[in-house]
Amino acid sequence: MNQHNNIFKKFYNNGFIIYKINKKKLTFINKLKEEIYKKFKTSFAEDQFENFHKYNSFESINGTRMKMINYINTKKKLKKDIYLAIKPFFDSMIGPDVVVQKNVNLAIQMPFDDERPLLHKDTPLSSMHELVVWIPLVDCKDSMCMTMIPKNKHDLINSLFKKNDEILFEKYSKKFGVTKNIKVGNVLIFNANNFHYIPLNITKSTRWSLNIRFKNLFTPYGQRNLLDYYEIINTSCLTKMNSY
Ligand SMILES: [Fe+2]
Repeated sequence: MNQHNNIFKKFYNNGFIIYKINKKKLTFINKLKEEIYKKFKTSFAEDQFENFHKYNSFESINGTRMKMINYINTKKKLKKDIYLAIKPFFDSMIGPDVVVQKNVNLAIQMPFDDERPLLHKDTPLSSMHELVVWIPLVDCKDSMCMTMIPKNKHDLINSLFKKNDEILFEKYSKKFGVTKNIKVGNVLIFNANNFHYIPLNITKSTRWSLNIRFKNLFTPYGQRNLLDYYEIINTSCLTKMNSY
């Protein structure tokens, strides 16, 4: 597939890519949305996901989000569905022996809610060998999207962290950050060692997204260990033959 040759080159150069999920593997997203909608009916007031902020306050959103996270993590197939949707990329990038973060995260970013992570990378808590998958549940444009800093600007950003200069963070994040519109059916995949941040959502829509991490079972771990944080989702034939 053409998509693949291109995306590996892009991933190598930038540390992130947008990956289009095969249509046949997409159904889990709509199914999950329907289930959330049914379970939390009153929070939606029969309106769309994008209009969630019209019926929910900044004060209540975190409690609601935690309840939703607990709910979506009762869906045992969800992680497997995500894995299978991205498997063609994983097979070449991290191989068939894969561990996945135990819990799927859900982020809900209402317009002008400034509770959000600023410029950061997920290492050393996460492993350098880890892929973060960011899955939009609504079409995202402009400040609804995640901003990524390309790999070739990382030395510069690292030097800012030594000075801890917030004004420069802001300036360079804006100058070098790449914010790509992303529609449902596409996912953003980035290396956990890549700098990223969530802009203040100044659109008129609530942003909904899942995020989850994958890595090769046998690559070095960060500060999170295998048994506490991850579970095995797929193994090669040879690994199966040798496990007990
Ligand atoms: Fe992060």
